[in-house]
Amino acid sequence: MMHIPRVLNPQQVTECRTLLQRSQWMDGRQTAGPLSASVKNNLQLPVDSLEAQQLGQMVLSALESNPLFMSAALPRRVLPPHFNCHQVGQSYGLHVDNAVQRLSGSEMLRSDLSATLFLSGPDEYEGGELEIVASLATHSIKLAAGDLLLYPSTSLHQVCPVTRGTRLCGFFWLQSMVRDAEQRRLLFELDQSVQQLARELGNSHASVLQLSGVYHNLVRQWADI
Ligand code: NI
Repeated sequence: MMHIPRVLNPQQVTECRTLLQRSQWMDGRQTAGPLSASVKNNLQLPVDSLEAQQLGQMVLSALESNPLFMSAALPRRVLPPHFNCHQVGQSYGLHVDNAVQRLSGSEMLRSDLSATLFLSGPDEYEGGELEIVASLATHSIKLAAGDLLLYPSTSLHQVCPVTRGTRLCGFFWLQSMVRDAEQRRLLFELDQSVQQLARELGNSHASVLQLSGVYHNLVRQWADI
């Protein structure tokens, strides 16, 4: 699970929200499977609407230029972001996201990682926490507007009922080049350490070069592309 701050800057958040405010929302149950439809009570932007496509593009290009996201997710395919809205009394009960999602046409995507992009600040609503059930604890998460939470798609999770205000979020799934979560974690830690070493010793230091080689060769071993 990882918190990626400032995927969108404040100006982009404002732009998103202005567009979302004039959008036509629909009942989120229309895109839920039979199991999750019974616990889903929110509003969603139609995926093929002009606004969803425009905002989705903005988020995708912000992600591509975010080194922390790229290092943690090692994305192979990313589903264009969807957007949802929880108003007072709305929630999305415990569920696991679908394992396979349809991209455009006949292309499919295996969801390895789920992502929630917060577009409302934590002071703008009460309730509405994203709760993720992990093996030892349940994590309750509410991030600043523009921040992203990346979490394993295998986990049970829910959006708690909103009791005041409105909670706007973007969400999407991605297939990683590295399917195994433990391998992905090791690569992330190695990448972050190599970058730290490079800052301390310089890019051309022999150890930096060697460890950077180890990183790339491990990706070569483990990546499916
Ligand atoms: Ni979900």
